[in-house]
Amino acid sequence: MKNLKIRLETENDYRAVEELTREAFWNVYKPGADEHYYVHQMRKHPDFLPELAFVLELDGRLIGNIMYTRAWLEDENGARKEILSFGPLCVAPEFQRQKLGKLLIEHSFEAARKMGYDVNINFGNPGNYVSRGFVSCKKKNVCCFAWGNYPTALLVCELVPGALDGRRWMFLPSTAADCCEDAAAVEAFDAGFPPREKKWMPSQEEFYIYRNSSVVR
Ligand SMILES: CC(C)(COP(=O)(O)OP(=O)(O)OC[C@H]1O[C@@H](n2cnc3c(N)ncnc32)[C@H](O)[C@@H]1OP(=O)(O)O)[C@@H](O)C(=O)NCCC(=O)NCCS
Repeated sequence: MKNLKIRLETENDYRAVEELTREAFWNVYKPGADEHYYVHQMRKHPDFLPELAFVLELDGRLIGNIMYTRAWLEDENGARKEILSFGPLCVAPEFQRQKLGKLLIEHSFEAARKMGYDVNINFGNPGNYVSRGFVSCKKKNVCCFAWGNYPTALLVCELVPGALDGRRWMFLPSTAADCCEDAAAVEAFDAGFPPREKKWMPSQEEFYIYRNSSVVR
């Protein structure tokens, strides 16, 4: 992949990024997808970080991207720490499993460190992330604000080793993804893309298990 470039997203990429996101996420976590709507809305949200929105370009075609929002950790005394949360992250299906996801994560983490961030936390399939330095939230004593537990899918990556000092933290995500709760708005936005069949895939059950189960010991 000699002509592979990694660069910041520009306004001219918006539609291509949304098409790529729809393509990569379609039927993976639910029948259909809402991540392309999330991408579209996220860029207007105050927690969106355009300095960390990277695209991967191969011979002029967008084949991957990563986007971030701010998120927070709150300790038991109410002290807050601003952190990062990435997603969506995707690679075009025909280019997956060739370490391009890894490249996007490592490149953006380097940029994030330069901005002064030292922790990234996001929900995800552990299989995609454990070899990238992510560990269970339980190991870093970070519980989920919404449920007060340690979801299997909640993964912590210290960009600077030792950034979390073992105290009990609560993870407070951005509200940017709340837009996806409006199913009618998601449908209306999706109608602007070519029709595609929604169907069940085993990966949906896999992620249901990760998201709704908890690490207890
Ligand atoms: C998840 C995604 C971004 C990963 O990008 P990628 O370029 O395919 O992944 P990479 O090649 O960098 O590999 C990532 C890890 O996945 C796992 N992996 C790689 N090949 C795999 C395979 N054939 N089967 C299962 N897991 C595999 C490995 O843990 C790998 O790490 P490794 O370096 O130890 O091998 C990409 O597959 C994608 O876009 N998927 C659809 C959208 C999505 O799920 N996004 C993430 C939301 S949480």
